[in-house]
Parts: sequence; structure tokens; C-alpha cells
Amino acid sequence: MCGIIGYVGDEAAAPIVYQGLENLEYRGYDSAGIALVNDGGGLTVAKRSGEVSNLTVPDAPDATCGIGHTRWSTHGPPTDANAHPHTDCTDSIAVVHNGIIENHEELRAELDAHEFTSDTDTEVVPHLLEAARADEAVPDLRAALERVIDRLEGSYAVCVVDREADRIVAARDGSPLVIGHGEDAAFVASDVTAFLDRTREVTYLEDGDVADLSADGDVEVFAAGDAAGSEPVDRGVETVEWEADAAEKAGYEHYMRKEIHEQPSALRQTISGRIDIDRGRVDLDVSFPPGFLADLEEIQIVACGTSNYAGRYAARLFEDLAGVRATVEIASEYDFGAGRSPDRTLVVAVTQSGETADTLGAIRRANAAGARTVAVTNTLGSTVTREVDDTAFIRAGPEIGVAATKTFASQVATLSMLAVAIGRERGALAAADARSVLEDLRGLPGAVQQVLDAEDRVRAAASEYGDGEAFFFVGRDLGVPVALEGALKLKEISYDHAEGFAAGELKHGPLALVTADTPVLAVLTAGGRASETMNNVTEAQTRGAPAIGCVSAADEYDTLDVSLPVPDVGTFEPLVANVHLQLFAYHVANDNGRPIDKPRNLAKSVTVE
Ligand code: G6P
Repeated sequence: MCGIIGYVGDEAAAPIVYQGLENLEYRGYDSAGIALVNDGGGLTVAKRSGEVSNLTVPDAPDATCGIGHTRWSTHGPPTDANAHPHTDCTDSIAVVHNGIIENHEELRAELDAHEFTSDTDTEVVPHLLEAARADEAVPDLRAALERVIDRLEGSYAVCVVDREADRIVAARDGSPLVIGHGEDAAFVASDVTAFLDRTREVTYLEDGDVADLSADGDVEVFAAGDAAGSEPVDRGVETVEWEADAAEKAGYEHYMRKEIHEQPSALRQTISGRIDIDRGRVDLDVSFPPGFLADLEEIQIVACGTSNYAGRYAARLFEDLAGVRATVEIASEYDFGAGRSPDRTLVVAVTQSGETADTLGAIRRANAAGARTVAVTNTLGSTVTREVDDTAFIRAGPEIGVAATKTFASQVATLSMLAVAIGRERGALAAADARSVLEDLRGLPGAVQQVLDAEDRVRAAASEYGDGEAFFFVGRDLGVPVALEGALKLKEISYDHAEGFAAGELKHGPLALVTADTPVLAVLTAGGRASETMNNVTEAQTRGAPAIGCVSAADEYDTLDVSLPVPDVGTFEPLVANVHLQLFAYHVANDNGRPIDKPRNLAKSVTVE
């Protein structure tokens, strides 16, 4: 995790770097820091534990080159000393880093003549650079960085400045890094959102690349080479299509609530131009070799967190619509599996960020086994897109709140289109059945809008039942992943104990925990075997638990304490019910004054295994 930003150009760097840190805070908020190259030489470094707002920005109007960092701690507690940037013994070189340097202890032992001031793995980098710079055979900072990264094991995106010049050198291997091209200025950051208010022209670096950013805005990129050294490469320039204000709060108190409310438009973008209802066809730009789909035996979905629950939802759709056995694995637990045929298996990585280390690890294991791979992601240029055979973008727009909301909906919608595409191509899905699913999909944004318009009802439920001791979320069939996701949202942002499970399992254990202080939230919709689920809800109510149900428009359960209506959209009703559960979590957390967009101990993009 962690967010890094660098700027070099003709304006004062401090406010630009600080703004970049604010934009990147979703990547970690344990500490923040800035290093500026002073006009006339020397470095100014300021760093502080806690959120970016704790940091006092140095007053240095003449410094036009700087780097910054916002931290999610891995090695060493979130103290001032462990905050980045880290410097060498002579305060000549400053480094910010995202990733983990696995051999840092061994490297530290080699550097016993150097004075270390932090517990971090990162601090070996400035000291290694200091040692490299002392060697006359190393002509400049880029050559020094190339020598140093050769020694690093693990993952990194690093940005480096030294006191001598307005220049940033940066390198990546396993952690994201993107260059922004401004007018007489250049940016480098973990994510385009860091500098999107300044430029939309970007170059995505690849693993092994080293970039050299100079004061006039020129950027040179070098790819890892052989013993003869690195080679200059052209990584091209892309234009980011979405606007900077898409990543701002637009009047909402929290990104999370804004993003919940963006779901209708996000879903429209997800679907736009991809479905042909009359023909019952889908065009997702994902292609397969001739004969591959006909012989397909299994779809394995790999993902973490919310994306894993989107995958669980989709697994059922792949089985029903595409007629293929589908399994879902937690990415960190995934292994290709004995007895499978790689050439008859499709592995689908679902990842909002495209950077989750566990998911990348799973895809690498699938590739090593020889399976065909597809990524379903929100992030153009992300690492996963380079590791797979094909990518389907979910087009949800930037999501800043750490708790994923709109991307869950857009992931399920994209995966359902993939299921229809595969089903049609395999001949497993009749045109009429495809039309019916696609009609429901077209109705999804409107159905979500109706739920959002009725927010007051769920706000009232949150205020009446939000002080429960624990919360149980239940559902069946497609309601199970939504129950799991509903519980995850609540625990992430409210810190309340919440558990989700298959409703039928209540009686096999969790019922022992049910009391009048443990509200039960249930998915009682189409696609979720509602009447059987209601039987289990009644069992909990008999033990005194209050019950809140998300109920299909056509049904009515008089015994529920709160009934939250879900418009008729067939297979997608549990997905719409999920919007009620997102709002429930939001209002419970908000009533308790939680830091909703930045829940403790979490980060949006988890680039460590
Ligand atoms: C983190 C985030 C979750 C997210 C998970 C997977 O844990 O806090 O919100 O669901 O990573 O992220 P991905 O980017 O792979 O979907």
C-alpha cells in the first residue's frame, strides 16, 4: 500500500505534492511526509505520523521539485521516525517507497557503517544509494538507482530526489507507478488521482522500468536491461478520460455515500454499448481462441474482500447462464488444483484496483499452470491488466472510499455480461433467456435509483437498530454473497461485530448468539429463495431478534420489523438489496461518528501479501 507522489516543474512543489497526498490518502493514512529540493541546494524534509492534515507543509516557494508519501504501515509502527521520506546519513538523498523490501535485514547488516533512524524496510534504499553515489563509476542518480534496485528483493515503487538538482528518478517492480505529463512539468505517482487536477496525459510504467523526470518536464523511461545496462523505451502516452471532479466529493460528506449514490450512473457506464438485447448478445472485448469455450470445463474466480463476494455472485451466474462449473477462491489461498486441465480452465481475477498483491499472486499461479486468464477490473493500466490474456473493464469511475460500493455493483454487472457472452458462444444459453437477463440488467440502474430515493427508510432503521451488540446478515443462493458483503461493509466502517452466512446455517450454530440485541438483516428477494430464508428469519425472531428484510416488490412479510422494498429485476434483485445494506452500514457508522472513508487499519489498495 502507501501512496507516493513526485513533482518537478516550474511551480512551487510543496502545495502540489501536498494536494497529491490528500488525493492519495485512501492508500494509507498512518503518516505523511514531503521532501523538497531547495533552490540553491539542500533538502527540506517534513514528516508526521497520522493523517495528511497533521503535516505542516514547509514554506518553500522557491522549491520546484519534491516528493511525498502517505503510509500504510508494514515494517515499524506509525511513528514520526518511520514516516517517509527516508534520507541517507548526509541528508543528501530522500526516498519514498510503496511495497516491501523482503531482504532489508540482510541489506541493513551490510550497511553497518551507516546510521539508521527508523524501523522501516525502506530506509536501506537511501543508504544503498549513498553508497552507490560514493562510487566514481556511478555517473548520476539514475545509475545509482539502477544499481540499488538490482539488490532489492520484494516489491517496490520508489521515487528519489537528491540535493543537487531538480530531478526525480523513480522505479517500479510489483507496485504501481504512473507518470503525468504537464506543461513544463512532470509528475509521478502511485495512481493518476494524485495529479488528475493538473494533467490527464499519462504513461504507465511497467515492472523493471526506471524513469528520469527533469525540471523542464522531460521524462525518459528505461527498461531493465542485461549486464550492459538499461535501455530507453517508449511506453506511450494515454489520456485519462474521466474528469478530476469525478474523484471529488461533489457536496457529499463522505466519498462512500457519494459512491453509493453514483451506482445508477456507474452501472449505466458499465453496460453502455455492450449489450444487444434484440439479439441476446454481449460485446465485452474479451475474446477466446477457437474451440476454447466449447471445451471449457471450469471457471475459477480469484479475488479478495468485496471483489471475492462479487465473484461468488457471478459463480452462480456462470453455472446458470454459461453452463460451466464455477468455483471461487480467496486469492491468497488459491492454487490451480490437481486433476484440472489448464487448457480447459478459465481463471477470472476480479479486482477493483488491479493491484491487490494476493490476486496478482493467484493470477501468476494460474498463468504458470498454463490456464487462460481474464481480469475484471476498474483500473486502466493496472498491473493485473498486463498479466492476463484479456481484460474486461467495469468502468465504474474512480472509487476513493476504502469500503468498496459502486465497484461491487459494476463488477457483478460486468461478470453477468461475461456469463451471457460465454453462454451464448457455447450454445448453452438460448437467445430468449439471454434477452431476459439483459432486460433485467438494463433495468438495474433504475432499480438502484429507487432504493436510493427511499434512503430515509434505511436511515431510520439504522438509527433504531444501529446500537445492536452484533448483527447477522443472512440470505440464500444469490443472497449469500450479498449477506457476506453486507456484513463486511458494516464491520469495516462501523467497527461493529457483523457476520454474514447462508440463512440455513443459522440453526447450525449462530442461533446460539441470537438475542434481542442482535438484529438480523435478510435478503428476501428473487434469486434468493426468499420464503425459505424467511423461515430462518422467523427462527431468529422467535429468540427475540429484530428482523430487517430487503423484500421483493411483489412480496410482503408482515412479521418483519422493517421491510425495505426491492424493485423487480430478477437475478439482480439481491444486488439491489445490497444497496440497502450499504446505506444501513453507512448510517450506523455515521451515527457513531466513525471516519467512514478511512476506517482504522484498512487501506483501499493492498499491495502486500
Ligand atoms: C482491500 C479493500 C477492499 C477490497 C479488497 C480487494 O481489502 O479494503 O475494499 O475489496 O482490498 O481489492 P481489489 O482492488 O482487488 O478489488
